[in-house]
Amino acid sequence: MSSLSRRGILSAGGALLSSTLIKGVSAQTLSVTTQEPFSFLFITDTHLQPELDAMKGCKMAFRAASQEKADFVLQGGDHIYDAMEVSLPRAHKLLDLYDMTEQELGKKVYHTVGNHDCFGVYAKSGASTQNAEFGKNFFRKAFGETYYAFEHKGVHFIVLDSVTITPDRDYEGRFDARQVNWLKSYLQTVPAGAPIIISTHIPMVTAFYTYADESPSLFKHQALSTVNTREILALLAGHSVLAVFQGHTHVLEQVEHNGIQFITGGAVSGNWWHGLHLGTPEGYMIVHVENNTVRTEYKTYGFHTVSPENTY
Ligand SMILES: [Fe+2]
Repeated sequence: MSSLSRRGILSAGGALLSSTLIKGVSAQTLSVTTQEPFSFLFITDTHLQPELDAMKGCKMAFRAASQEKADFVLQGGDHIYDAMEVSLPRAHKLLDLYDMTEQELGKKVYHTVGNHDCFGVYAKSGASTQNAEFGKNFFRKAFGETYYAFEHKGVHFIVLDSVTITPDRDYEGRFDARQVNWLKSYLQTVPAGAPIIISTHIPMVTAFYTYADESPSLFKHQALSTVNTREILALLAGHSVLAVFQGHTHVLEQVEHNGIQFITGGAVSGNWWHGLHLGTPEGYMIVHVENNTVRTEYKTYGFHTVSPENTY
C-alpha cells in the first residue's frame, strides 16, 4: 500500500471521527488529520563497556539526547557489549553500568532486545543453558518482555524481538512462531488506518548486504536480517505502517519497500567505539511524527574514539 493511500485511510478516519464530534460541520471542510505531532528518540547499539571510553561516550550521547524535545526514547538494542560470550558477573557489571548511564536520559525508555543483550549464548561464555538468566531471561529480568506494544498519541508502537537463539548456541534473525501469533492477534485490535511504528533490532529489510564488508556467508545462521521478513510483511499488509526502526548493522540507512520506510538508525557506539562504521558516525536519531509521516534527523554528539578504525 502506498503512503498516499495510507494517508487517505487515516484522513477518512479522522474526518469521520470529527464529523461525529462536531455536529453540523461538513466532513469535507475538516482538516485531513487529527494526529497530534510529537517527537521521540531512536537510540540504538550503545554497546556499553568499561573499555574504549565507551562509558564516557554513552554518557555524552545520553546527556545530549536528554536535551532534545522528545516524548520518550525507543532503545533499539545491543545495550551492552557483550552478554553473549562472558561470565554472569561480567554481564551484570555491564548491565549495572548501563542502568547507571541511562539515568542521564531523564526520559521514559522502551527497550528492544539485541543479540548482545542475551546472556551466555556462546558456549565459550562457560554458562549453562540451565542458568536462570540464560539467553533472553537476562534481558527480561532487566527490562521486561522482549516483545510488546504501546500507544502514544494515537500511534501504535510495536516492539519486536528479532533474535532467535539456535540449538547450537548461536543466534539468527527470526521472529519466532509464538511472537508471530501474538502480532497477528495484536494487529486485529488496531483500528483500520491507525498509524503503526515498529522497532526491531535485526533489520527486517536492508540493503546492507550490497555494501558491507562482511559477507553473509561468514555467519553460520542468517544474522544480518530476519529470515521470516515476508511472514511479518504479510501480516502488516493493509495496515498503515509509518516506519520500521532497525539497529544491529550500525549504519544509517533508509530503504522503502511497498510503501513502508525501513530506517536503520546508526549506532551510539559507531564502529563499536572505533570511529566511523561504513561512513556512519556515533549518533542517535530524532524522529518527528506529524500528519501520518515520519521525518528523521541523525545527530552526532562529539565523541572522539581513542582507537580509530574508521570504515567507509
Ligand atoms: Fe550492535
